[in-house]
Amino acid sequence: MVEAAVRNKIEIDNLSVRFGRRQALDSVSLEVRENEILAIIGPANAGKTTLLNCLNRMTDFIPDAKVSGTIRIDGQDIHALRDGAALRRRIGMVFPLPVGLPMSIYDNVAFAPRMAGLRDQRRLDAEVESCLTQAALWDEVKDRLGDLGTKLSGGQQQRLTIARALSLAPEILCLDEFSIAVDPVTTMKIEEVIKSLKTRMTVILVTNLVLQAKRLADRTALLLDGRLIEVDKNEVIFSRSTGDVKTFQYVQGVFG
Ligand SMILES: Nc1ncnc2c1ncn2[C@@H]1O[C@H](COP(=O)(O)OP(=O)(O)OP(=O)(O)O)[C@@H](O)[C@H]1O
Ligand SMILES: [Mg+2]
Repeated sequence: MVEAAVRNKIEIDNLSVRFGRRQALDSVSLEVRENEILAIIGPANAGKTTLLNCLNRMTDFIPDAKVSGTIRIDGQDIHALRDGAALRRRIGMVFPLPVGLPMSIYDNVAFAPRMAGLRDQRRLDAEVESCLTQAALWDEVKDRLGDLGTKLSGGQQQRLTIARALSLAPEILCLDEFSIAVDPVTTMKIEEVIKSLKTRMTVILVTNLVLQAKRLADRTALLLDGRLIEVDKNEVIFSRSTGDVKTFQYVQGVFG
């Protein structure tokens, strides 16, 4: 069987980031393929969140951040784009703790489409239902869409955050330790959601849970002290006894 050609969605080349004297990323080069789930693992301070923040140029807002190297999305250098906001609309971000807007469940999801100019009520309704369904939350909230989002349980709020991240149909979805405050049952629900999303988008999953990377990702990258130690298919990263000794030790739980 001939393997389908893989297309790179993101090409990161020699990316370095400094915050003052602190080097958070050091010459990281990495490709992320279209419709894959790429896990990024590594201990605290490895630079995982910083890497995500570079992808949508959130680093533009950190005064002492110095970024060098290139990031291309669909072949286009993101630092050459004038409009960082347009870039951010293409990339959904989900953070460790749910970020509920102080408004109804419905409005949480409708917020971004409204900001983007969608006014038609029927289309908004359809969008809200679709995003909540994709985030595996619709059945639990469909009868209380007018309730405050902040009244939901932690796990429901995290799924609401995912629904909101999906509301502009992002091409790339980044999740940063999404399950840190979520119970195991909800975590499994969200993992199913993530698996189903990759047919439509590229997913980058930052996780401290090695087994979560093993369960979900197609490929896994290990970051350590700002350096990319290794990136490879999960079959390789999680099953071999040769290769980079640090990766082996990390996935075996020897350190980290
Ligand atoms: N805004 C900032 N200003 C100064 N230093 C920062 C900033 N953001 C990150 N850093 C530093 O960059 C390094 C990498 O941080 P980062 O948050 O990317 O790590 P991480 O791998 O996401 O860690 P964790 O697993 O704890 O979330 C750390 O030493 C951190 O202190
Ligand atoms: Mg982090």
